[in-house]
Amino acid sequence: MERTVLVTGADRGLGFGLCAGLLKQGWHVFASQYIPEWHELNGLMNEYSQTLHILPLDVSSRESVQAAAETVKARTNHLDVLISNAGVTSETSIATIREPQDYDEMHRLYDVNALGALRAVEAFLPLMERGQAKRLCFVSSEAGSIGNAERTSWFGYCMSKAALNMGVKILFSDLHPAGYTFRVYHPGWVRSYMHGEKNMDADLEPEEAAAYAIPLLLNDREDEDRPAMVDYEGTSGPGNYHTLMPSLYPTSTMF
Ligand SMILES: NC(=O)c1ccc[n+]([C@@H]2O[C@H](COP(=O)([O-])OP(=O)(O)OC[C@H]3O[C@@H](n4cnc5c(N)ncnc54)[C@H](OP(=O)(O)O)[C@@H]3O)[C@@H](O)[C@H]2O)c1
Repeated sequence: MERTVLVTGADRGLGFGLCAGLLKQGWHVFASQYIPEWHELNGLMNEYSQTLHILPLDVSSRESVQAAAETVKARTNHLDVLISNAGVTSETSIATIREPQDYDEMHRLYDVNALGALRAVEAFLPLMERGQAKRLCFVSSEAGSIGNAERTSWFGYCMSKAALNMGVKILFSDLHPAGYTFRVYHPGWVRSYMHGEKNMDADLEPEEAAAYAIPLLLNDREDEDRPAMVDYEGTSGPGNYHTLMPSLYPTSTMF
């Protein structure tokens, strides 16, 4: 059976890097396109016309996500892996509490970063049910860790990622007993386009970030029975610096 994966937010940045890396490894990739005028995904078509499927998908729209699921269903009867990667931040979300808050923008971040992942799982779950791997992956961020939070601003982004993490915990409690495994992932500081232009101050090219991510998202772990956040160095777990999502551990110390 062909190995199938769907990646949201695949136009550029980490999502594009993941698609390119997975195609190279022989996966059938359903790449969700949000900005049709961006050229990179279409460029991959030259080399992978048989295994790359590009589909329009806006995770902030239930109609769009459901329509994308119908498109995928017309091409395959199963999905093995879902990578919920689409995410946004905003210049106005960096205000401290002594500055005016942009609540409309915060709603947008929550809608894309937290609810967008939920919409994707809801729509693609029937296809995942028929997949073998049953792996649900969520690109979150250290910014969503309550235990390690040190920022004095960035309410919109941090709170939206913390909400995503909570959503994953609920999904885990429901779906892990049914055979699903989970990845909650912090990709490091990636030279991506979250601020509109490619951020050359960051540490990792999207291709590098994807090369770190792919084995960590796809390889099996020994501790599948708890949904820890893993970072790009592969570290996770309570009690060390990289405890990025302690809210997922049965501890009350993070508050
Ligand atoms: N970059 C970092 O250092 C970093 C660190 C920690 C976590 N992350 C997370 O990594 C993930 C990937 O981000 P990235 O760094 O690769 O940024 P990116 O280059 O901006 O890639 C995100 C992609 O998602 C798309 N997108 C935005 N809104 C969408 C929507 N409603 N539906 C579908 N797609 C949408 C973006 O389109 P537009 O470009 O048009 O917005 C873009 O193509 C995000 O979840 C982000 O929060 C990034």
